Amino acid sequence: MTHKWWQNAVIYQIYPQSFQDSNNDGIGDLPGIVKRLPYLQKLGVDVLWLNPIYQSPLKDNGYDIADYKKILPVYGSMADFDNLLKQIHAHGMKLLMDLVVNHTSDQHRWFQESKQSKDNQYADYYIWRDPVNGHEPNNWHAAFGGSAWTFVPERGQYYLHLFAPGQPDLNWENPAVRESVWNIMRFWLDKGIDGFRMDVINLISKPAGLPDAPEPGTYPLTEGLVADGPKLDDYLREMNEKVLSHYDVMTVGEMPSSKPEDAINYTGLNSHELNMVFQFQHVALEPNPDKRLGKWNDQPVKLPELKKALSRWQKALDGKGWNSLYWNNHDQPRAVSRFANDDPKYRVRAAKMLGTTLHMMQGTPFVFEGEELGMANVHYTHLDQYEDLESINAYHELVDEKKLVDGPTMLKYLANISRDNARTPMPWDDSQNAGFSDATPWFALNPTYQQINAKAAVADKDSVFYHYQKLIQLRHDSDLVKFGNYDEIDPDDAEVFAYRRHYQGDTLLVMSNFTDKTLTRNYRQARAAKLVLSNYDNDQGVTLRPYESKVYLFN
Ligand code: NOJ
Repeated sequence: MTHKWWQNAVIYQIYPQSFQDSNNDGIGDLPGIVKRLPYLQKLGVDVLWLNPIYQSPLKDNGYDIADYKKILPVYGSMADFDNLLKQIHAHGMKLLMDLVVNHTSDQHRWFQESKQSKDNQYADYYIWRDPVNGHEPNNWHAAFGGSAWTFVPERGQYYLHLFAPGQPDLNWENPAVRESVWNIMRFWLDKGIDGFRMDVINLISKPAGLPDAPEPGTYPLTEGLVADGPKLDDYLREMNEKVLSHYDVMTVGEMPSSKPEDAINYTGLNSHELNMVFQFQHVALEPNPDKRLGKWNDQPVKLPELKKALSRWQKALDGKGWNSLYWNNHDQPRAVSRFANDDPKYRVRAAKMLGTTLHMMQGTPFVFEGEELGMANVHYTHLDQYEDLESINAYHELVDEKKLVDGPTMLKYLANISRDNARTPMPWDDSQNAGFSDATPWFALNPTYQQINAKAAVADKDSVFYHYQKLIQLRHDSDLVKFGNYDEIDPDDAEVFAYRRHYQGDTLLVMSNFTDKTLTRNYRQARAAKLVLSNYDNDQGVTLRPYESKVYLFN
């Protein structure tokens, strides 16, 4: 297999609204990102992925796009974008843009025209259906609450929105829609960007006949009903043939509910579709036992389940496709709180341990802003502290309307799993507003910013920042880290996550203690071993201290 540049890459995700404000309006922007490129260069990442920066009413923080070829003015102008791209390249990095084409904003011109009548140029750009006995065309529940259908009197019809009503789903069956998407993609690729992260791309092909979900009131995605639809391969192949194959770029498709077998299809060497997918199995391990509550829960993940989810992908895609690797993103709570321990006594050690566990696997690692500082959840206690429409809508629907859970319990669930845990502004230093802005930030800072910030991390040689720098360097330097196959150790061990990687006669052994206890595990082999990375100062052999993580090389 010829190796591709993105197999050597580590990607850093920027949530533009929360990264760096340059004009003191309290909102992060594109010139702010330029200012921080030396920091990212120092960390050693190769590629930056920006969450959506396009024209948008921001009902879902930019995942509702009103114009795909315009920059939202609070982020800057197109000239600012062109400069950002130039500067990223000048700093030796690449840029991925977010492609959100399962749906648009209801403010997009296509939708504004589509909803007027059944015979206009954009009439079939969206999924319109007649009422059935005066009701919605099926029982689908939207991801952000309520029915997935909204009625428009002008057309006397309902339109489908798998997310919020302000996010109508595009009708990919219509060839004109696909041509419009190819046109948008070429616009950005011709500017010289290096690829796309594709939002919920496995939802673009809907099941024939749009059948009812088996359990009304539950979101159909969880049943896989609307995911990986019958024409998805056709659409992705067409996208590849008409657009992607003409550029040397990388793609990662966000695919909630996809399984490894599906991913081999999409990322396989001969599939000519995408390069990698974001799978969700390891971040969907603790759903509420009451399905009507979906992801809202506060139970910790069980380590054997986490190991099973990640190992399954490692083994299934080896030599057949390519994995993405992530703990965090803008939709997930902070990993150190979720999978390890954010108590100040353990936080730094635990964050390094998680980084090692993931970065030594096969695939392309993604680091979400602040992860390299070991940022933890915000631990909010009141609903009015939240900004995210998913969290706020869920509270109102489940507590106030359906009365499925009481308020204090739901607040515990939000504190555990809300997306807002990830979205607080980046803490750059310990000054007022954390160096993010001179104005009050659009969203409150994590109150820990005086201790946990980039300036402090860069000044401390034992920080999580430098541990991530080493992890990135190790990947760049080692074909074993990049391409070695994966061999799980003791899958049922509920305390330690250990595995081996093998490549051309060399072996890497990774062992991580996921507990606050001192444990003993003997995985060493007869051959001489070299300790290549650890989060403690000295090596105590078979002993694993709290949250200790070690990487040995046998050759
Ligand atoms: C996935 C995105 O990551 C998330 O933030 C967004 O709300 C949904 N897709 C809908 O676009």
